[in-house]
Amino acid sequence: MDANQINAGTTAWTPTNWKTKPIKQDVVYEDKEHVQKVLGKLEQLPPLVTPKEIENLREQLKQVALGNSFLLQGGDCAELFDYCSQGPIEAKLKVLLQMSLVLTWGARTSVVRIARMAGQYAKPRSKPTEMHNGQEILSYRGDNVNGFDPSDRTPDPERLLGAYFHSAATMNYLRSLLDSGFADLHEPSNWNLDHVRSEAVRGEYQNIVTQLTDALDFMRTIGADNSQQQSASSSVLRSVDFFVSHEALLLDFETALTRLLPSPSSKTKKWYNAGAHFLWIGDRTRQPDGAHIEYMRGIENPIGIKVGPTTEPDKLVELLNTLNPSKDIGKITLITRFGAGKVDTHLAQHIEAVRQSGHIPVWVCDPMHGNTKSVSGGIKTRHFVDICQELSQTFRVHKMCGSKLNGVHFELTGDSVTECIGGSMDLKDTDLSTNYQSYCDPRLNYEQSLDIAFLIAKYYQKERKNEEFPSL
Ligand code: PEP
Ligand code: CO
Repeated sequence: MDANQINAGTTAWTPTNWKTKPIKQDVVYEDKEHVQKVLGKLEQLPPLVTPKEIENLREQLKQVALGNSFLLQGGDCAELFDYCSQGPIEAKLKVLLQMSLVLTWGARTSVVRIARMAGQYAKPRSKPTEMHNGQEILSYRGDNVNGFDPSDRTPDPERLLGAYFHSAATMNYLRSLLDSGFADLHEPSNWNLDHVRSEAVRGEYQNIVTQLTDALDFMRTIGADNSQQQSASSSVLRSVDFFVSHEALLLDFETALTRLLPSPSSKTKKWYNAGAHFLWIGDRTRQPDGAHIEYMRGIENPIGIKVGPTTEPDKLVELLNTLNPSKDIGKITLITRFGAGKVDTHLAQHIEAVRQSGHIPVWVCDPMHGNTKSVSGGIKTRHFVDICQELSQTFRVHKMCGSKLNGVHFELTGDSVTECIGGSMDLKDTDLSTNYQSYCDPRLNYEQSLDIAFLIAKYYQKERKNEEFPSL
């Protein structure tokens, strides 16, 4: 076996072995030579993330899987190249940091933050084509593939390079912001709660913010946050770990960013996907014998698997055995997305099958993807109450099974869009047209994202008061 092969599972693995397997959601380009030229260029470009960061995340996810920490993953459904801009990056970072502070306070544990950001540019679609003005055109597959404009639906290989450079610019600004103290959310002015319509609810949220900012102030006073003495980047509260993720969908692209690099934890070189810290496999591409699983089983990065109502428990165990034969704790994150009302039918069986297999994954709830509804005009939306219901049920079923929900996964944005119905600002279906921006799935807006964090914090408060099965 040469140095470029590893033994993952039973067969030797190479970054291109997946090409021998059946593939779903593939993109067909007209100009194959152009694709090869672009992939050659991508292979030359430097890593966007390092093995040290990837292994740091793996270590943190191990703690999440053991119940010592909580995972917050969130961001756009389809990130656009246009979001690679100062305002949207700052807004998304701010909302994720604020949510994570509320969750830290509520759950009394540290929170690991992973953004769907700096690379979430490729989308699987339920149909390859759609009708537009009576004509059948290719579906929008994400900025990595084609444009949303109906005249721009032909897959363009140059977009793969565009994805790399937009990821790089987004990462660069995220790193600069975090290094410059953006994570410092002591200031109560950062926490405007004017959107909350109900006075009682606003009072409750304000109470949490006051306690939280007081706690931060107290830590600063006693010097636990050494921000006075140390540089901003080394201070505990001002600088935080922040990781990026995307769905590993375009395997040619992922392969071009897969590098054999020295591992900080052993003396050997290992295969890392150097395009993101964390990658996940979507609900449509998780076939045990398919190309996506074959690619994912060889990389060192922590991996997510979307688990839906059609996932059979024994197939899930098969996936775990293939992707993580050494049963490393927290290497795999299982992201359940059944839909409100379906959790009871499926989750307990999955938990039991995984327990019997001996794997210890991170259990995360994605209460978004099973709760998408169409409203008139073909617009997609999600109801805030369904999202809360799926989360409540997931907390409850884990508890009933003697397991623990380790994290949450949301489609959200830092901007005040109007894509999901409900929340404390009480958005109605008639409000959707006011500022509906998403080219793919509907996201929680800034206010609804804070809402959900406050509700989870309240859930933990109720639990501490010995309520056995609190709801959100
Ligand atoms: C997504 O996370 O955007 C997505 C497409 O999810 P799923 O694969 O769970 O449908
Ligand atoms: Co989505």
